[in-house]
Amino acid sequence: MVNIFAIYKLVLRVLMKLAGVRPQTVEIEPGTVMNFWVPNQTSNKNTVVFIHGFAADGIITWQFQVLALARKYKVYVPDLLFFGGSITDRPERTPEFQAECVAKGLRKLGVEKCTLVGFSYGGMVGFKMAEMYPDLVESMVLTCSVMALTKSISDAGLERIGFKSWSDYLIPDSVQGVKLLFEIATYKLPRIPNFVFKDYLEVMFDNRKEQSELLEALVIDDKDFTIAQHPQRVYLLWGENDIIFNKEVVNNLKRQLGDRGTLQYIEKAGHLVEAERPCVYNKHLKEILATLLEDGHKKE
Ligand SMILES: *[C@@H]1O[C@H](CO)[C@@H](O)[C@H](O)[C@H]1NC(C)=O
Repeated sequence: MVNIFAIYKLVLRVLMKLAGVRPQTVEIEPGTVMNFWVPNQTSNKNTVVFIHGFAADGIITWQFQVLALARKYKVYVPDLLFFGGSITDRPERTPEFQAECVAKGLRKLGVEKCTLVGFSYGGMVGFKMAEMYPDLVESMVLTCSVMALTKSISDAGLERIGFKSWSDYLIPDSVQGVKLLFEIATYKLPRIPNFVFKDYLEVMFDNRKEQSELLEALVIDDKDFTIAQHPQRVYLLWGENDIIFNKEVVNNLKRQLGDRGTLQYIEKAGHLVEAERPCVYNKHLKEILATLLEDGHKKE
């Protein structure tokens, strides 16, 4: 039988083309190649870069946002290394290395300034980018993520979801595992037939070994964590029912950000808020981007 996600990817490609977004392969350096979804033409609109989390690629994660925003903004969506079509032969697995590669890719694509929208793992990569490239990253929107995955945040999160390791949860190897992945990441998962999870399992989890290395490199000792002191404003747009990074985690993050941070919850939404409640998420995101970019102009 034909895999529905293989078909869905083709459909997405057509939808994205109609929205004015196309895939492009960028060589970051010899041996490191990243796929980016990029605008099909140059314009002087503001740039928004969307960075995805685990268990999906860039365009699957951000499809509703790209379709909603591509007319008003220049939208870029990278596939992080070992997701989608992006690979490297380098040994680094840290979020810093992902950040470096995304930034290099964006520069090669001619992006000089952008607002980052980061989800989960993509938010952690985004924080690194904001710290390492303050000229490139003007502001951030963060969804269900943290500055860095410290051991204490990691352990508490794993305990809440009832898993021993992030790779057991995020890189499932059974249909039941995929179903549980989505059940935990949503407020209320609609009734979905099992073959859908089976098809997802078949197409979405390449590079398992490297992905689990990414997760290992992600967790750091609490004593190695320092609060990122970058100057950018950070909007926290959160699923109120996220149990992975729950209210306690986000309140802590808000305290760490001080007056750089603004927090907004979306009710009846779990970790996967941008896919679970795309209309509400997009409405908030549009308002946030308008505020951020308006303020940017006032400064100039
Ligand atoms: C880009 O996509 C838009 C939307 O589909 C279309 O109107 C436009 O002609 C395309 N531009 C180029 C240069 O292909």
